[in-house]
Amino acid sequence: MTSPLGAPFPGTGPADRSYDPSARWFQHAVLYEVLVRSFFDGNEDGSGDLPGLRAKLDYLQWLGIDCLWLLPFYPSPLRDGGYDISDLFNVHPDYGSLGDLVGLLEDAHRRGIRVIADLVMNHTSDQHPWFVESRSSRDNPKADWYVWNEDDQRWPEARVVFTDVERSNWTWDDTRQQYYWHRFYSHQPDLNYENPEVADTMVDLVRFWLDLGFDGFRLDAVPYLFQRDGTAGEHLPETHAYIKRVRKELDADYPGRILLAEANGWPADVADYFVSGDECHLCFHFPLMPRLFTAVRREQRYPVTEILSQTPEIPDGCQWAIFLRNHDELSLEQVSDEERDYLFAEYAKDPRMKRHMGIGRRLAPLLDGDRRLAELLHSLLLSLPGSPVLYYGDEILMGDNIYLGDRDSVRTPMQWSPDRNGGFSKADFAQLYLPPLMDPVYGFEAVNVEAQLRSPGSFLHWLRRMLVERRSLPVLGIGELDVLGCANPAVLAYVRWGEVADVSMASSPDGPGPPAVMPTVPREPAGAEGAGHVLARTVPAGNEEAADTAVRRSQAVLCVHNLSRFAQPAELHLARWAGWRPVEVLGRVPFPVIGDEPYTFSLAPYGYLWFELVDPSTVVREETGR
Ligand code: NOJ
Repeated sequence: MTSPLGAPFPGTGPADRSYDPSARWFQHAVLYEVLVRSFFDGNEDGSGDLPGLRAKLDYLQWLGIDCLWLLPFYPSPLRDGGYDISDLFNVHPDYGSLGDLVGLLEDAHRRGIRVIADLVMNHTSDQHPWFVESRSSRDNPKADWYVWNEDDQRWPEARVVFTDVERSNWTWDDTRQQYYWHRFYSHQPDLNYENPEVADTMVDLVRFWLDLGFDGFRLDAVPYLFQRDGTAGEHLPETHAYIKRVRKELDADYPGRILLAEANGWPADVADYFVSGDECHLCFHFPLMPRLFTAVRREQRYPVTEILSQTPEIPDGCQWAIFLRNHDELSLEQVSDEERDYLFAEYAKDPRMKRHMGIGRRLAPLLDGDRRLAELLHSLLLSLPGSPVLYYGDEILMGDNIYLGDRDSVRTPMQWSPDRNGGFSKADFAQLYLPPLMDPVYGFEAVNVEAQLRSPGSFLHWLRRMLVERRSLPVLGIGELDVLGCANPAVLAYVRWGEVADVSMASSPDGPGPPAVMPTVPREPAGAEGAGHVLARTVPAGNEEAADTAVRRSQAVLCVHNLSRFAQPAELHLARWAGWRPVEVLGRVPFPVIGDEPYTFSLAPYGYLWFELVDPSTVVREETGR
């Protein structure tokens, strides 16, 4: 395995390829969101592509992610970053072919990396042949595949999502002499799910991509599939019933594949997408994200603890997906008007930074380039309940370009090296799909993977180390959360605890071999020639089905965060854990055993600490040697 420097990626060996083969792998996975167009240009035409992404799997494997989320890679006029699809069953020719996609999936699976696709079910591009046909007359075979109406007054309760660019969810079509319905851009007509042909075709679509080898989907804009008079047309029972139908397909024929709902709503509403564990496996937790940014600016934990207290318990077999930034604007839909004004004032000082109802900036510039804050926020991201989703480039603290239109501000080429075009592409600069960053602070000469690989103290190495630690602490994914009382409001501390299992299994010589849910590559039988790596991993208790050996034990992790830019004292009430010993996770430094009195810490500005709590019987054994 080689790095972009030509030298081996340090520390990547078979043991690093361990994966969780159980169907519940997603409950403690780290996801990585990637725009194929932005990652690496394999054929030097100025656009990232699938072979380019495949060439960078070494890097992603080294980084230690469990699952790739591919943003839309389908044929598209690219007027909405590819969410405007003109052929749902194919690959955009700029990115390669279906064969390239299968190659990528197989290679990722060999490395124990799963891959999910963005599935855009709600709408298509107006260039899609279905819409071209539908708009051509009122009585063609696809006439009812989209949502048409005589006037633009129906469903006035439905909100317009892109308020800054669209005035209405209806647009007039001259040919058909009717209005069509769209929740997003007017060039993205909504499909009509009341039409059984549409509903059936979209199930075929799901099966098509799963048969190709995807491990599941991020369901784009999923609350909007159906409309109904007198409602806002979001989260309708009909929509839930349809997703349940999709889920049934997965459960019947594709065990271990997942559905991740993009439903930007309040936790109690979004939890309906889990229902009783028979709808989506994961849902994004949108309201948590802006509150993390509020908390560090106000230097108070309450925005975070309040939203956690309003987050309902989720059913067995489900999980939240949590994130700091993504390919869209930093969404401020789920905050009060007052809080939105505050966040705009703090994080979008230049009005050009605003996009739709949010802020079109990347993580590092939002934090004024403060490395300590970036670490603090990632420490929260990796230890709060949920599966963390990283956004490509944030692992090197890439910047943004607010002068680019719409959300292209955060979709510039990945910065691999200080070479031409940041090592992203050998095409002429003028040919690139977007200009790479070249400013003195965040430009590719200053911020790139190659430089950070060579610097052991870089953010990239720090993050990788944190991912390594997180892999051995699956309670951070699915364990219980006890938020600790603390008189100092700048301190956010909690214990994550639960049962885990240390599992091991034999694998093929090329790596872990694919589990049952990765169907495209046959698994070598254990004991085949050259086989015999033993893969060890700690997984949540209950996930050990496929393991050859498994030992269950309890695991508890204490996480302490200082949200202030100044040093802070913290007295934590840890009496419940009396007799347990905190051992600092990064340095394995044992701290004094917890007693009945409050436990005291001095925290550095924006400091964070993770401790594994060692149980009293082990403490006694260690102390007495027996
Ligand atoms: C949500 C996607 O994240 C966003 O990028 C897109 O514009 C809308 N859905 C419409 O597809």
